Amino acid sequence: FQPKVLQGKKLLITAGPTFEPIDPVRGLTNLSSGKMGFAIARAAQEAGAEVTLVAGPVHLDTPAGVRRIDVRTARQMFDAVLPLAPEHDVFVATAAVADWRPADVSDAKIKKAPGRDVPVLELVENPDILAAVARLARRPYCVGFAAESHDLARHAREKLQRKNVPLVVGNLGPATFGRDDNALLLVDAQGEREVPCASKRALSRVLVQEIAQRLASRS
Ligand code: C5P
Repeated sequence: FQPKVLQGKKLLITAGPTFEPIDPVRGLTNLSSGKMGFAIARAAQEAGAEVTLVAGPVHLDTPAGVRRIDVRTARQMFDAVLPLAPEHDVFVATAAVADWRPADVSDAKIKKAPGRDVPVLELVENPDILAAVARLARRPYCVGFAAESHDLARHAREKLQRKNVPLVVGNLGPATFGRDDNALLLVDAQGEREVPCASKRALSRVLVQEIAQRLASRS
């Protein structure tokens, strides 16, 4: 039995990778499957929340009762999220947003030809969606994610401060991308809590409870 701990609340969540085009047939992306974000969207909906899921390119079915907005690039994700954020109670940023995108997108496929120089990609930085939401005057309760190869706790705490968000969730599991299980490290101003390895579905339920508790103690 799961109590409806988010009844009457509106939750906005990003999930999946972004895809940053180079030309019509190529692009930069990453290995995020979107599974964790989709599982949290489902758990939040089951906990009574009205859920909007902004998804990058993933191969996952939309959880029942969840409103889904599909985007491809980081800038499209930013443009979808920012206007919606002020009317939400919670924003959960699980998306693995590309940090950089090609400065120029070629209209035509870049061709390989004998003797031609290898193309050089110039990159520019993408906007930080989570940090931008956390800067809004009317901001939801913001939850960030951290996928790090080392020093998870330190990086998670650093993100907490740099992005000015009250909760950062670290992926403790090794190589969590695409897997169905994970372990989490919850980092906030009070300290750290480890949630041991479980299915992303079970972890999502725990996380939804943790978010609901923090929301309740905030208001
Ligand atoms: O350190 P990093 O910038 O990768 O922080 C990861 C957290 O920030 C995740 O919650 C991710 O969804 C969010 N993020 C974002 N927009 C970006 C980069 C990261 O919302 N451009």
